Amino acid sequence: MSRLPLMAGNWKMNLNHVEATNVVQKLAWTLSDYHYDKKKSEAAVIVPFTNLRTVQTLIQGDRYSLGFGAQDVSVYDAGAYTGEVSAGMLAKLDCTYVVVGHSERREYHGETDEVINAKAKKVIENSMTPIICVGEKLDIRQEGTHVDYVLNQVDGVLAGLTAEQVGALVIAYEPVWAIGTGEVATPQDAQEVCGAIRARVSDLVGAEAADSVRIQYGGSVKSSNVVEIMAQGDVDGALVGGASLDPEEFARIVTFYAR
Ligand code: PGA
Repeated sequence: MSRLPLMAGNWKMNLNHVEATNVVQKLAWTLSDYHYDKKKSEAAVIVPFTNLRTVQTLIQGDRYSLGFGAQDVSVYDAGAYTGEVSAGMLAKLDCTYVVVGHSERREYHGETDEVINAKAKKVIENSMTPIICVGEKLDIRQEGTHVDYVLNQVDGVLAGLTAEQVGALVIAYEPVWAIGTGEVATPQDAQEVCGAIRARVSDLVGAEAADSVRIQYGGSVKSSNVVEIMAQGDVDGALVGGASLDPEEFARIVTFYAR
């Protein structure tokens, strides 16, 4: 089976809704200048909650070939959870994707694999696609136990999901030491872990799901390194932070196949 690469721009806590309009418009125009082919890669922007309605209206109104989604979700459906946003609310805004378990959520908000698993289930129940993040910190990488560490996260975040559900979701491998540091993992580092994740998915839920699940690499992806990263057999896309805030740079990343 051929997996359509997913190039997702994680804006993190950047750009207000007015700025978002400019960036999304410029991205769409630049992609069209670059003859973007949606059969060769899928592009999405993962924006702050406050931008979702604006981005939805713009993308749907102008029929841009862009997906969009949110950076987090509540484990609860509704109720007295001040500050939280439910999966139902995100589905109502037509989000395609919801990132869960980003390393910054794990680090600053104490999210565990169990919480991330519960969030992923809420996203799936509401007919959206979770982008579930895993990845090791520098000390684990230096110890050389990163593959086992990440596979243990994979077991936790996928617990209780069916083969069909796993086959349809996205896993983002993001080594924490490569996020926002300019320190990109080598293409071989990315392949080593992404390949191991796919093999683990096969052990957990079978070869068919392993063949269709999309596994992204994330961590200092730029137009200057994306081509070699995407050339790896088990890398099916990129979760791009800093470089996705610049629409021209992100458009070059999305159209990596043309270079
Ligand atoms: P970066 O972030 O591309 O700025 O390293 C990646 C991410 O955190 O998703």
